Amino acid sequence: MDASATVLGLESSCDETAAAVLRADGTILAEAVLSQLEEHAAFGGVVPEIAARAHLEHLPGLAARVMAEAGLGFSDLAGIAATSGPGLIGGLIVGASLGKGLAIAHGLPFVAVNHLEAHALTATLPGLVEGGARFPYLLLLLSGGHCQCVAVEGVGRYRRLGTTLDDAVGEAFDKSAKLLGLPWPGGPALERLAASGDPRRFALPRPLLGRAGCDFSFSGLKTAVAHAVARHPPGALPAGDRADLAAGFQAAVAAVLADRARHALDMLPAATALVVAGGVAANAAIRTALGRVAGERGLALVAPPIRLCTDNAVMVAWAGVERLRRGLADPLGHAPRPRWPLDQLTA
Ligand code: KG4
Ligand code: ZN
Repeated sequence: MDASATVLGLESSCDETAAAVLRADGTILAEAVLSQLEEHAAFGGVVPEIAARAHLEHLPGLAARVMAEAGLGFSDLAGIAATSGPGLIGGLIVGASLGKGLAIAHGLPFVAVNHLEAHALTATLPGLVEGGARFPYLLLLLSGGHCQCVAVEGVGRYRRLGTTLDDAVGEAFDKSAKLLGLPWPGGPALERLAASGDPRRFALPRPLLGRAGCDFSFSGLKTAVAHAVARHPPGALPAGDRADLAAGFQAAVAAVLADRARHALDMLPAATALVVAGGVAANAAIRTALGRVAGERGLALVAPPIRLCTDNAVMVAWAGVERLRRGLADPLGHAPRPRWPLDQLTA
């Protein structure tokens, strides 16, 4: 595939509807993301059926819009890449079906993209990420649905070194934020509240700190926040306590993530960089803590711009480019997979 070839990426695995047109040299020709925050906020979390309907309503129009912005017709494309797992099955069916339909209509190759691979490869997008990451690198995938340490050894070559034993880190942020009376999604709101708090005021647990390996656990930390909140009558937690609890929670998470990253780097001595991805990578305290860990090892912390850390279609198109380059198109019979671990991919 030559450098001027273009790929359309489609993302619909959770609550972001996204489309992007990317050139094989990494130039983004057009990108758009519609967040469904408002649709789900009243329910305090993502409702799969509402998400699927919203993707169905918006994705075809969004795909047409990015193509128009890129100044391209579908038949100008070198391929179509659509997230086909893991994620919520309704949304995956919407995106994968649209992608396959366009591929059939215009005689194009189709790539069934693994959403986790798309997050993992973002760090190699030329030009966007300073320095760009080289294989092998250690990826910390920190989102609302995933919390993993992954050895990224090449396109299609991943080894999961550790994962969460209970909640994903973003889920822990969201649940703790809810306990503190903050709106969903709680991560950004909790970070803002923590800015005015004293992280040392409450002694919160740091689950698995120092333990062998690089698995994570966050449910005990969340329970400790719940206990601290429950000492007061409902809704009567003093404002200062709320901020101190938020700061204490964030500090505990940052300390645990730093410790787990150190262990994971020990498990991948050849790592050329520490890469973070996923919505939680937007958190400044966490970026600082992980930057320190990378610095201790003489490595760079590669953190893609926040809009490429959260769910987007540029990363899906980039995974499509990398796979098409290697002749790894998928058959149109490829079925979306709600569960699709990274280590089951082929290269
Ligand atoms: O990657 P993402 O957009 O979606 C998936 O889960 O796939 O991640 C969303 C998660 C939510 O749990 C949200 O609360 C968390 O990322 N998040 C944050 C911050 N921004 C988003 N957590 C902590 N601090 C933030 N600034
Ligand atoms: Zn994601």
